[in-house]
Parts: sequence; structure tokens; C-alpha cells
Amino acid sequence: MDRLVVTGGTPLRGRVRISGSKNSTLPLMAAALLGESPSTIEGVPDLRDIRTMAEVIRSLGADVRFDDSVMSIDPAGFTVNEAPYDIVRKMRASVYVMAPMLARLGVAKVSMPGGCAIGPRPIDLHLKGFEGLGAAVGMEAGNMVLEAKQLRGGEFSLSGAAGSSVGATCNVLMAAVLAEGKTTILGAAMEPDVVELAGVLSAMGAEIEGAGSPTITVFGVRSLRGIRHRVVADRIEAGTFMVAGAITGGDVTLENAPIQHMAATIEKLRDIGVSVEPVDGGLRVTGDVAGYKPTHIQTSPYPGFATDMQAQFMALLAVVPGTSTIREGIYVDRFIHAAEMMRMGANIRVLQGFATIEGVPKLSGAPVMASDLRASAALVIAGLAAEGTTTVNRVYHIDRGYERIEKKLSLLGADICRASDGEPDEPTAAPA
Ligand code: EPZ
Repeated sequence: MDRLVVTGGTPLRGRVRISGSKNSTLPLMAAALLGESPSTIEGVPDLRDIRTMAEVIRSLGADVRFDDSVMSIDPAGFTVNEAPYDIVRKMRASVYVMAPMLARLGVAKVSMPGGCAIGPRPIDLHLKGFEGLGAAVGMEAGNMVLEAKQLRGGEFSLSGAAGSSVGATCNVLMAAVLAEGKTTILGAAMEPDVVELAGVLSAMGAEIEGAGSPTITVFGVRSLRGIRHRVVADRIEAGTFMVAGAITGGDVTLENAPIQHMAATIEKLRDIGVSVEPVDGGLRVTGDVAGYKPTHIQTSPYPGFATDMQAQFMALLAVVPGTSTIREGIYVDRFIHAAEMMRMGANIRVLQGFATIEGVPKLSGAPVMASDLRASAALVIAGLAAEGTTTVNRVYHIDRGYERIEKKLSLLGADICRASDGEPDEPTAAPA
């Protein structure tokens, strides 16, 4: 299994280019199956999750080519209505193929995605939306089985106890564009991923109004065509490099950062005392940890503070003088990284979705275990600031969502390398 070995203490300096967004690309890949001609997506990051999604799509009969950040998907052979358990179990986002299977083949058999290290992640809102479009939903040998000869428009809410659902909104939107008549999705997620998907579907011939607001209206069409699209840059990768720059008291300029999607992250960094300034061709992050101030973070759906940035900020707050707090409003159990940071000397208490962090003057390097994608990134960030060497084990998690992270950090001056004990990596059930 691979691990990342980080020796802390070097302020990061230089420029880093942000890759395309993982969480935007995944639904766009599924959307390509809705078209009747091939689609090409540019700026696709080379990540384990993207390759898993490509495998899922190939297993349905479509042709997927991926070379040098350009992905071409030809849906001509898309005729298989069952997604194999062995691939789906690796990644929750595989459920995005339910929409094109249902809309174009009339049947979708997809195994129930498992639980994962960030807590229970139900799928009920996806199913509620498909039912709202007239699909019959059942279970058969661990598979969800959805059937509809012809989807029909409906009106329903996709908001649950934790608010709107990105996945359910994307999935149901993809099905609604080929449903007969008008669909009104209430309580829709407003994340940039949803807006980008709606833009791509519209370019394919769909009629959609209101994406980016809580109410999306869709007027069904009979067919869609393939398109060419460049995916937006990854706001979570960008935020991760900003926090890495901030915790090392460095001077990092992000190229290609989607500043328009990062208001909550930028505002929180500025609250803490990190300088974040747009400069020619990028976003410059500088700071001095000794002068940082504690803060309170509450994660919530977009445009609120992203749960996917919570772990990285916890690493930063672990060394900010004073008492900071974090309330996790999306996944109350998404705090496994806190225990690993405490092994590095952090002073953190977690109780029922709420973390209290007393800043310590120094973290010290230790062997730690990555539990999910963003937790892995946070442990690397903590390692960059710690005295001595930190070994982050189980880094296959990080390869799911960060393109060449150790190379990008090395170019900024970090002392980081990848080591392997020769054993194969073992991805478990799926957070993304
Ligand atoms: C997306 O997951 C992201 N994944 C996650 O990023 C991210 O953490 C999450 O949105 C929240 O922003 C992808 O885009 C591939 P949700 P998703 O449905 O769509 C509850 C990363 O690190 N819910 O918006 O699966 C759910 O339990 C990953 O890149 C239901 O109750 O998340 C949660 O509390 C990890 N029923 C809340 O809604 C449902 O049917 C939001 O989840 C669906 C969700």
C-alpha cells in the first residue's frame, strides 16, 4: 500500500495549477449517456474516481476514451441496464448512471452503495425523485431496480434533514430532461456542480430553468445530442492548496482557481487572518500563523461553507492560537481525522457533530491513517506544518480526488514523497 511521507516546516512558495473538478466531471460523464451522439469533456482530472466512473460507463456498453485530460464518451453501445456490484461498491457516485439507464433504457439495476467513513449516506432522495417522475422502485438481491416505460414530469422536493442533496438533484435532473412534460424540483441543491450539469444538459438540447436556485423547472424533450465541454476547475482542490499555503506561512499563487465558487472558503481564511488576493492570472495566499485568529465554522450546503473543506480547516485551526469551533452540518460523523490529528499533538474535542479546537504552538510528526479523501488531504496539511516526519497511510483515498498531489506540493517546496510497501492498494466503500 502507498503512503505519503511528509517532513514539515517548509513554507510553501510558488504557483500551482488547479485541475478540473472531480465532483463536476462525475455527473457530466453520466450525462454523456443521455446523448444520441458522442460527447467530449476537456480538462478532466486523472483521478481514481474518474477512472472508476469510466469503468462503470464501459460496463454499460458505451465507449470511453481518456487521454491527456480529454475524455470522449460514445453512447452508441449503451444497452446494458445493470451496473456491476464490484465496480459500484467502490464509489457512491456510480449511482449517477441510474438516470441515463432509466431515461434511455427504461430499466436501471444498480447495487445499493455501502456506508463509508464519513457516516451513513442514504439514497432515499434520489429514489424519491425517480418515483416523482413515475418510476417504480424496488429491491432485488441487493440491487435497486427502477423501471419506467416512459418517465413523466412531476413536482417534488429533494431536500432532506441535512438540506438539499447534490447527488439527488444531479441524478433526478438528468432523468427529468427526457421525461414527458414539466418537472418542478423543489429544495434543489445550488452547488456549482448542479449549475454546470444544467448548462451542459441545455447545450445537449434540454430545456431547464432555475439551476443555481432552490427551484429547478424542466420541460422534457424527446432526445439530446452529444456536446464538447471544458469542465470548471476544482474548488475543493483549490481550497486545499490555499490552506496548505496558509498553515506553512507560505506564499502560494493558485492558477485557474474558480474564485467565483469559493466565497465561503476565502471569507473564512480572511477571518482567520490569511491574506487572499486576486493577482494577475491567479489567487495569491500569504500569511503568518502567529498572527492568525480563531474562528467558528458551520458547514452547510452551497453557498455555505463546504463540508469537503472542513477537515483541511481543522488542520489549520489546530495551530491557530485560541479556541476555534466547527459544527458539521452535513455529515455529523465526519470527524475521524480529529483523532489522527490528536496523535500529532492537536488539542481537539468532538461531541455530536461539534468540534472544539484549542490551538497548539506546534504539531509533531507521527504515523497517521487516512480515513477518507478530504481527511487524507487534511493529514498531509497537518504534516506540512508539523515538526518532524508524518507518514500518512492508506493514501489511496487521496488518489480518488487529488491529481498528483505530492508532485504539486513538491513543486511548491514541500518535503513530501510517496512510498510503497509493494502491497496492492485496497479501496474500501465509497465516500465520493
Ligand atoms: C456530494 O456527495 C459530493 N460528492 C461529496 O464530496 C460532498 O461531501 C457532498 O456532496 C456534500 O457537499 C460528489 O459530488 C461526487 P449529498 P453527495 O447528497 O451528492 C443527505 C468529496 O470529498 N442525503 O449532497 O452524495 C446526506 O446524507 C465527496 O469529494 C440524504 O439524506 O452528497 C447528507 O447529509 C465526499 N438522502 C446530505 O444529504 C439522500 O438520498 C447531503 O448529501 C442523499 C443525501
